[in-house]
Amino acid sequence: MAQYIGAIDQGTTSSRFIVFDKAGTIVSIGQKEHEQIYPKPGYVEHDPLEIWRNTESVIREALERKGLKPRDLAAIGITNQRETTLIWDRRTGKPLHNALVWQDTRVDPIVEEFARDGGHDRLRAKTGLPLASYFSGLKLRWLLDNVPGAREKAETGDVLFGNIDTWLVWNLTGGTNGGCHITDVTNASRTQLMNLGALEWDDDILSLFDIPRACLPTIKSSSEVYGIARDNLAGVPIAGILGDQQAALVGQACFQPGDAKNTYGTGCFMLMNTGETPYPSKCGLLTTMGYKFGDERPVYVLEGSIAIAGALVQWLRDNLGLIQASHEIEALAASVEDNGGVTIVPAFSGLYAPHWNSHARGLFGGLTRYATKAHIARAALEATAFQTREVLDAMTKDTGIAVKELRTDGGMVVNELLMQFQADILDVPVVRPKVIETTALGAAYAAGLAVGFWAGKEDLVRNWAIDKRWSPAMEPGRRRRLNAEWDKAVARSLNWAD
Ligand code: G3P
Repeated sequence: MAQYIGAIDQGTTSSRFIVFDKAGTIVSIGQKEHEQIYPKPGYVEHDPLEIWRNTESVIREALERKGLKPRDLAAIGITNQRETTLIWDRRTGKPLHNALVWQDTRVDPIVEEFARDGGHDRLRAKTGLPLASYFSGLKLRWLLDNVPGAREKAETGDVLFGNIDTWLVWNLTGGTNGGCHITDVTNASRTQLMNLGALEWDDDILSLFDIPRACLPTIKSSSEVYGIARDNLAGVPIAGILGDQQAALVGQACFQPGDAKNTYGTGCFMLMNTGETPYPSKCGLLTTMGYKFGDERPVYVLEGSIAIAGALVQWLRDNLGLIQASHEIEALAASVEDNGGVTIVPAFSGLYAPHWNSHARGLFGGLTRYATKAHIARAALEATAFQTREVLDAMTKDTGIAVKELRTDGGMVVNELLMQFQADILDVPVVRPKVIETTALGAAYAAGLAVGFWAGKEDLVRNWAIDKRWSPAMEPGRRRRLNAEWDKAVARSLNWAD
């Protein structure tokens, strides 16, 4: 009897394979970063073949590290950076172009063209999403319009579209040799091509965006056996798919309406479980899928998406050389009492929730000769906390639910300075669970539920345990002043193009 479940976590900056046991504890892990390709301002690409090669290599690495064989895995789940869009040739398995990463803003002019007739919210009722460069549908349209020959082949189903989940499943299940062309409801909900109620591709939107149905994958639930893997996972059922933020929601066991989590990764994403019907937003949040386990009813969420969080720390490291390694940011920021008046608004891909403004641009404000790199480091961390505060305010306004404590996860939550500042700025306690790899864990849970490795959600709730809790300690007047300064800086960033 296999004792473990594996999860592929294909994120914006790296690919990982993590093996979990029944208690949700990590048994083994393999990880590899991939190249970020920036051909021009606003363009962000990944090489899909590099991502596939890295995925294969991290699977091997994690298995070899503990001497595991495919038969030790009861199933595998997949979680992925969402919205990132690619097309490939069904016969050769070759991508026709680099993948357009979710942060890529090249389709902005197309967004504005569609918004001219009916505004940015014209597809909200059907898809839960505003028109924005973030989602896959218009990225796919760009590829079909700009890659010679792509549209004709997509119309005959010889060119296939997928997000990263689809690309990985197709390759894992045989690729040109009969690979499964599927996705799950959570990833499909981020294309802006799926009807949120029917959970099917929407003919009206397909015709509006001019997307041929023949190139689209079949939409499945998030937890069922989709196919059997080959090669270095030969014989293992692929039994779970969740977009990475939804996977973190499941990994944090947020199964009750009102439960919320915030994941601090490349970007930062807060999701609140809103139950079995889509909950419309008036305050700039997304209405989107949470998860659908097999035949059970789907569960929806409200999401506040922030494009740049940990990516700002990487940018300070890679583009400015301010630090050598990301973890150095905490000690540098902690070497000063406060931000010294410096504010950074990292609107590198415009601003997402709650503004949805693609014309916003990043800015450094409040600089004087007093400012040092330590103040900049501090302002960079604070930017994530302030953006999260804007999202939480929108959640409270939309739902009337005051979150009692915020469950956090993702790479940045090892940063204790950030966690304390987050609690201070929100005036809400912040909680970090023992397993912070909740994204991979959620995908493992989805797969494990499908094959009976875990009996039900109660098992998963039992696995969740607190590591640390931060209570708000900031004086209210200071909190108000800092939040007001942030709001002013955001207003300037939003008006950058004026
Ligand atoms: O929507 C984009 C999101 O899925 C990317 O997540 O963890 O790679 O920043 P992450």
